[in-house]
Amino acid sequence: MQKIRKAVFPVAGLGTRFLPATKAMPKEMLPVVDRPLIQYVVEEAREAGIEHFIFVTGRNKSVIEDHFDRQFELELTLAERGKKSDLELLGRDLPGPGTTSFTRQQTPLGLGHAVWCARELVGHEPFALLLPDVLVQAKKGCLAQMIEAYLAIGEAANLIAVEEIAPDLAHMYGVVGVGKRKKQAFEITTMVEKPPRGTAPSNRIITGRYILQPEIFDMLAAQERGAGGEIQITDAMIRLSQRQPFYGLEFEGRTFDCGSKLGFLSANVAYALARDDIAPDFRAELKRLTGER
Ligand code: G1P
Repeated sequence: MQKIRKAVFPVAGLGTRFLPATKAMPKEMLPVVDRPLIQYVVEEAREAGIEHFIFVTGRNKSVIEDHFDRQFELELTLAERGKKSDLELLGRDLPGPGTTSFTRQQTPLGLGHAVWCARELVGHEPFALLLPDVLVQAKKGCLAQMIEAYLAIGEAANLIAVEEIAPDLAHMYGVVGVGKRKKQAFEITTMVEKPPRGTAPSNRIITGRYILQPEIFDMLAAQERGAGGEIQITDAMIRLSQRQPFYGLEFEGRTFDCGSKLGFLSANVAYALARDDIAPDFRAELKRLTGER
């Protein structure tokens, strides 16, 4: 089994749902408590053993590249002021030299097209794909759970993180059909991107974490448009599923769809409540705000 060494982060989206906040700032830099969204997802990948981080960016996204670089001026000032713990924090979050790559999606043609833009950087090996809109709060990171399940399956397959959702929300996501169990995962029988209301094959949705075989790039090369007139990763997976197995993993953890305002606000509350340094005061403040005693 080939090791999963590389992860792709599509960060080219326009973030129109968060305007005007995202007019001059990438949505991936919106903070949950005190870290930008993208950093949580990169951490999840690093914890899972990923060695190379590939970002597919676009115009107005260069601040993401700066975020994963050193900031000498800031470091110097912190050192001069004796702010040791802040300095340590910055150092801890920094990817090693040469472990990040950035490429641009020149035209916003959809998620599938963004992933295809990473083909030269990924090369011919299986890779992880993480959508930074989705945060998964879990004891063991979602991608780490997936890599474990992938190794247990023991064949060159594709694996998608899935979760149950209220059926009336399924039309907003990619949805999978559920087949036979294999180890902790199940066979995916069918996939559909944003099915019209009432037509979804199940209430299990694609959550934004994938382990894909490199042949996905051959499927994406066809550049066929799908839901919303965009080149969809789900459509490429449907084509690849005629040649390779696809499995779904129901991981442990709580998901926040930070592409929506409600999900983003909930993530801020949940992540703050999970922080020992903030939770006690924050819990009291929440009670005060909601009128609870
Ligand atoms: C994308 C995928 C979809 C998946 C979703 C998870 O959709 O195309 O299959 O369910 O992410 O958040 P998007 O949110 O980009 O519309």
